[in-house]
Amino acid sequence: MTERFLLTGALGCIGSWVAKNLVDEGLPPVILDIGGEPKRLKQLMSDADLAKITFVNGDVTDLATVEKTLDDHGITHIIHLAALQVPFCRANPTLGAQVNVVGTVNMFEASNKRKDRINKIVYASSVAVYDNVDSPTGAAIAHGLVGHPTSLYGVYKQANEGTARVYWHEQKFPSIGLRPYIVYGTGRDQGMTSAPTKAMFAAAVGAPYAIPFGGRADYHYADDVAKTFIKCARVPFAGAEIYNLRGSLVGMDEMIAAISAVAPQSTGQITHSANTLPFPDEYESAQLAALIGTLPYTPLNVAVEQTIARYRDLTARGVLAKDALLG
Ligand SMILES: NC(=O)c1ccc[n+]([C@@H]2O[C@H](COP(=O)([O-])OP(=O)(O)OC[C@H]3O[C@@H](n4cnc5c(N)ncnc54)[C@H](O)[C@@H]3O)[C@@H](O)[C@H]2O)c1
Repeated sequence: MTERFLLTGALGCIGSWVAKNLVDEGLPPVILDIGGEPKRLKQLMSDADLAKITFVNGDVTDLATVEKTLDDHGITHIIHLAALQVPFCRANPTLGAQVNVVGTVNMFEASNKRKDRINKIVYASSVAVYDNVDSPTGAAIAHGLVGHPTSLYGVYKQANEGTARVYWHEQKFPSIGLRPYIVYGTGRDQGMTSAPTKAMFAAAVGAPYAIPFGGRADYHYADDVAKTFIKCARVPFAGAEIYNLRGSLVGMDEMIAAISAVAPQSTGQITHSANTLPFPDEYESAQLAALIGTLPYTPLNVAVEQTIARYRDLTARGVLAKDALLG
């Protein structure tokens, strides 16, 4: 069967990179998103490539829209990314639950009814299903550990992991959940952990930037995350498993040094606060490598260089204003 990918929430950062990878492969996807303007996709691809993508302007909280999209386009593969991030769930918990939890239930319900054609769902969970209390000694979070989230966003993601397990248990409909920590790269312009990418933008345009947190974290380049989602969508799989990822595990000073190495004029201009994120630093990821093989990985210095180069090009061409990510 020819692969026909549906990406939900792919006007966002990760989804735009997934779409770019699929277009580059010659397999333009269908995107279901409520967002409207494909501004992040435009940062990653030409207008000619953008025109190959099929856009459905719709809401994952509406089951009928999801079902119609699956049928209208003969969808065979699903990467479900649509969600509201931490600050948006905090600001509007009801909407957060509708989009993140009900939206995910809808994706499972609609796909399960079409499991003759749709082999599984690959969806984004998050390390926000954990809190520092889950790693009292600082040891890596073990695969399969049940966490104790301290944000509504994390609770909603945990609910989705539970939904996935029940669809396997009761319906034998498979799924793979992936838990990124900090995704960075062009297009990462909203959410609590978007600040390191905004600092790369600032360095590209020669502006100062204060990152509102510090500490050590696992950074995943958006292109690597996209390739990981695509690999998971294609791997033969039975069950409902959730995997941690592995990126560049670095402290904020190392991240800032990587930025300054590419943009030396930014030295001293990028700062960070002493606040730390409430999540453990390190997560076991060998299980994911056992499933899909070597995890896509771009070294931090290469990814930072690519991101800054892309932002320099986008601002030079007027695709992004020089203060676009600095408000
Ligand atoms: N970016 C990260 O560091 C990170 C880390 C862990 C997990 N995740 C998860 O990965 C996924 C993608 O993250 P991202 O950074 O690309 O997010 P993003 O905020 O850039 O994009 C989310 C997209 O979802 C769309 N959306 C919101 N409500 C919708 C609805 N009702 N129906 C359809 N579309 C809707 C938005 O319009 C947006 O385009 C999310 O599920 C997020 O929770 C992201």
